[in-house]
Amino acid sequence: MSNNSNPDNQASEASTEAKRILTGIKPTGIPHLGNYVGAIRPAIKSIQNSEHEAFFFLADYHGIIGCYDPAVIHESTKVIAATWIACGLDPERVTFYRQSDVPEIPELAWILNCSCAKGLMNRAHAYKAAVDINTEKADVDPDQGITMGLFGYPVLMAADILMFNATHVPVGRDQVQHIEMARDIAGTFNHRYKTLFTLPSAVVDEDIPLLTGLDGRKMSKSYSNTIPLFGEPNPQISSEKQMHKAIMKIVTNSQLPDEPKDPDDSALFEIYKAFATPAEIADMRAQYAAGIGWGDAKQVLFDKINDEIAPFRARYEELMANPKELEEILQMGANKARRHSRKQLDKARRAIGIRPLAKLK
Ligand code: TRP
Repeated sequence: MSNNSNPDNQASEASTEAKRILTGIKPTGIPHLGNYVGAIRPAIKSIQNSEHEAFFFLADYHGIIGCYDPAVIHESTKVIAATWIACGLDPERVTFYRQSDVPEIPELAWILNCSCAKGLMNRAHAYKAAVDINTEKADVDPDQGITMGLFGYPVLMAADILMFNATHVPVGRDQVQHIEMARDIAGTFNHRYKTLFTLPSAVVDEDIPLLTGLDGRKMSKSYSNTIPLFGEPNPQISSEKQMHKAIMKIVTNSQLPDEPKDPDDSALFEIYKAFATPAEIADMRAQYAAGIGWGDAKQVLFDKINDEIAPFRARYEELMANPKELEEILQMGANKARRHSRKQLDKARRAIGIRPLAKLK
C-alpha cells in the first residue's frame, strides 16, 4: 500500500505509533466482483495481516444521499453486512458498525459544519460535477436537484473519521479529496479551539485491479454490467448458477476456437488475473496464444472465481436467513464504537463551550 498523502503529516510522522485504520462502505447496492476485488478482499486481508486497530462501518447516512428508496437502503445494509462477514471480516477483531447506530457522528458533523468554510465544500468534485451537468443545460439553476446532503457529504465523512482519530483511511481514488478535506476541517478546528483531532491520511492501493464489466466498460452498478458476488436472493437459481450465467454473458470478440487470442485485449483474462496466481496467469497466457475457445476460457474463469467464493456462500446464506444474528453483530460493533464516540463528542463539545453549568447530584 502506498501512502497517498502529504509526507509531512501527523499520521506518517507518527509512523512508529500504532495505526488506526477506518473505512466506510455505502449501502446502496448489491456487491459485485469489482467491489470484492477492489475493496472487500484487500480490506479484510490487510486487517488479517496486521496488529492495528480497525473500524469498518456501513455509511447508511451517506447512503441516503441520492438514494431515496427505503427498501434499497434497508436490504442493501443487510446484504453488505452479510457479505463482509461471510468474506472473513471478524467482528471481534474489527469494530464493525452501522453509522446510524452511533448518533454522536451526526452530532459531531454539525459541530464541524460550524467551522468548515463553505468555500471548501464548493470545491468538492462530486458537488462540482453535479453543478457542471446543470450548467450545460439551458435555463436550469446550477444547484437544481442538489441537496444539502450532497453538498455537505465531506463534512459527515470528516466526522466519521475524526470521531475515532483514525490515522489511515483506505479508499478508492475518487475519495482521496474527501480525506484531504477531513484533514483541512480537523486543522481548522484544532487551530481555533484546541488540538483534538488526529489528521488522517488516505491510503490508496495502487495495485488494485479495476475490473471490466459484462459489456466491456468498467464494472459498475451504474452501467448494470456487473457480476454479482453472491447473486440476487432467488430460491429458483442458486448463487453459484447465477455467477456461472453472468460469466457466460461476458462479451468477447468473434474469434473462433484455435485462433490465437490476445489476452491483454480480453475482459475474461483481466478478471482471471484478479483471482489467479502468477504461475496460473502465465499458463493462461500460453493458452490464449494456443487458441483456447471463448467458451472454455469462460469455464476456466468461472472455476477459478468459484474456488475462492464458494467457501463463503454457506455463511452468507446463513446470515441472510438470520437477520437477528447480523443485527446482534452490528449492535456489538455499535457498543464498541460508542465507547470512543461518547468521549470524543464530549471533548469536542467542551472545546466549543458546550458543557453543563454545574454538576447535579
Ligand atoms: N464516501 C465513501 C464512499 O463513497 C464512503 C465513506 C463514508 C467513507 N464515510 C467514510 C470512507 C469514511 C472512508 C472513511 O466510498
